[in-house]
Amino acid sequence: MYGARIIVVKDEQTVGKWAADVFEQVISRKPDCLLGLATGTTPLTLYRELVRRYHRQMLDFSGIHTVNLDEYVGMPPENHQSYRYFMEKNLFQQININPKNTHLLNGLAGDAKSECRAYDRLIDELGGIDLQLLGIGQNGHIGFNEPSDNFYLQTHEVTLTEETRRANARLFAEDEIVPSQALTMGCGYIFAARKILLLAIGSGKAKILQRALFGQVTPQVPASLLQLHPDVTIIADEAAGRLLPECATESVS
Ligand code: PGA
Repeated sequence: MYGARIIVVKDEQTVGKWAADVFEQVISRKPDCLLGLATGTTPLTLYRELVRRYHRQMLDFSGIHTVNLDEYVGMPPENHQSYRYFMEKNLFQQININPKNTHLLNGLAGDAKSECRAYDRLIDELGGIDLQLLGIGQNGHIGFNEPSDNFYLQTHEVTLTEETRRANARLFAEDEIVPSQALTMGCGYIFAARKILLLAIGSGKAKILQRALFGQVTPQVPASLLQLHPDVTIIADEAAGRLLPECATESVS
């Protein structure tokens, strides 16, 4: 890994605290920065910590802009499974961010291609992403960039793999259908972020984290692209970090 700091901490609460420290540094240096945000279970302790620090007046989100990685196609924003709903509930409605400054892809867009082009333009117009938060899928995806024969650079529509749909099914009720299509920011825009923070929690992520960080750089493991980025911080709990070489990691409590 070139330019990466890999930190292994004891549990998911501590992942949230360390990740919040990274956010705090970036926000204090640039109060009008563009944050790239993620959904899923991984960022929940981080978002709780950011809300806590906001209430303690340690963080001010009034000048912050955000773009999220992805959204399901056909999912109305008010649906509790949409990523817009997730972000409103877990972060945006609990902090002083201007709602107009929070951007997600529109899963209901009639013309997905134009929606994707407009999203890339928006990121460019906002000056590029200062800090991009990522989780990692068990198949190595980042955002919804699934294993593939090439790295898709731009925002695009994607068919989710069965593995991803199965992994996401845990968050859906039995009578709800897990969407098969999504819009996702591309690997190029993720890679162009000035700083990247990838979080991994739980033993189910151990193998893929090791492969992504120390295996071959390949679009079959989209997260492996991060090996080439000059400023990446990885924060894993002990379970997710258990297969990483000790010499390459910092263990902190
Ligand atoms: P998770 O998803 O945070 O729910 O594990 C991460 C991902 O699939 O990128």
